[in-house]
Amino acid sequence: MTGSPQTALVLGGTGRTGSLVARKLAERGLGARTAARHGADVLFDWDDPTTHPGALVGVDRLYLVTPVLQVTYADRVAAFLDLAEAAGVHHVTYLSTYGGDQAPPEVDIKSVEVGLAVRGAITHSILRPAWVMQNFSDPHLPVVDGVITVPTGGGTEAFVDAADIAAVAVETLLTPEAHAGAQYAPTGPQALTVGEVADAIASVTNRPVRHHDIEPGAWIGGAVAAGLVPADYAVMLSWLTGSIISGNGSTPNDDIEKVTGRPPAAFHDFARRNVRAWTSPAAR
Ligand SMILES: NC(=O)c1ccc[n+]([C@@H]2O[C@H](COP(=O)([O-])OP(=O)(O)OC[C@H]3O[C@@H](n4cnc5c(N)ncnc54)[C@H](OP(=O)(O)O)[C@@H]3O)[C@@H](O)[C@H]2O)c1
Repeated sequence: MTGSPQTALVLGGTGRTGSLVARKLAERGLGARTAARHGADVLFDWDDPTTHPGALVGVDRLYLVTPVLQVTYADRVAAFLDLAEAAGVHHVTYLSTYGGDQAPPEVDIKSVEVGLAVRGAITHSILRPAWVMQNFSDPHLPVVDGVITVPTGGGTEAFVDAADIAAVAVETLLTPEAHAGAQYAPTGPQALTVGEVADAIASVTNRPVRHHDIEPGAWIGGAVAAGLVPADYAVMLSWLTGSIISGNGSTPNDDIEKVTGRPPAAFHDFARRNVRAWTSPAAR
C-alpha cells in the first residue's frame, strides 16, 4: 500500500467486530476511524448518503460492514464503494457470512462479494465467519429463564469469538497486499450443538441451561411478529438456521491461526470470560 495518510474507516465501528478492529488497529499504530449512527468517531448511516463523503476524507482502507438486519443493499454499497475509490481507498476488508458465496439470491451478500471482485483500483479480502459466540451473551440468542431458543435440528456450528474475527480483519487491513483477494472463513476450534453451548454456559454459571430446538417457522415468524427483524429478513434467518439444520453448519478450519499465528478461542474459554453476561443482576 502506498500513499498517505494511512487510516482505516471502520464501518459498524461500535459493533461486536468493528469496535475491536478499530481498537486493535490503533494499538498496532494505524489510524482507525469508527463510523456508525450513534457514538462513533464519525456519523455514518447507510440510509443517509449525505453522511458518506465526509466519513471517507483522508481514508485509504475500509472495514466494510453492510447494513444490518437488511437484505437489499448491493446498490447502496456499490455507490459507496465508488465514492471510496474516488476518495483514495485502496483496500476493502468485507465482513461477509459463512457460506456467503452461496447465499440466497434475495440476500445481497453474494452481490457485494462479486462487486468487490470486479473493482480495478481496490483490492479486497473477504471474511466469512461462522456464527459468533457473542450471539449467546447478547440479545441475539439470549438465555431466557434457563433456555436458549433457536432451531438447529440438533446440528452443529463452529461458533467463533468476534475477537478472533477482528484479529483476522486487523491483519488484512495492516498488510492489505499480503491478503489481496483472500477469502477467510473464521471459525472456532469445535463444531458444537447448541445443547453443548448450553452445557458450557451452565458449567460456568452453575445454573441449569438447556436448548429449546424450536420449529424454524415458529421461531422466524415469532421474531418478525415481535418486531425483532423486518419481514423480508426471514429469508436470511431461514438460510442461516437451515444450514445448520441440514447438517451444513460451519466446520472448524485453521484460517484464524494461519492469519494471526494464534489458535481461535474455544467456547468454554469464551463462556468463562463472559460469565457476567449470564450472572449479572441485569441478566437475571
Ligand atoms: N451474528 C453472527 O453470528 C454473524 C456471523 C457472521 C457474520 N455476521 C455479519 O456481521 C455483520 C454485523 O457485524 P457485527 O456483529 O460486528 O456488528 P453488530 O454488533 O451487529 O453491530 C452493528 C454495527 O453496525 C452499525 N449500524 C447498524 N445499522 C447501521 C446503519 N443503517 N448505518 C450505519 N451503521 C449501522 C451499528 O451502530 P449504530 O446502530 O449506532 O449505527 C453497529 O456499529 C452483519 O453483516 C452480519 O451478517 C454476523
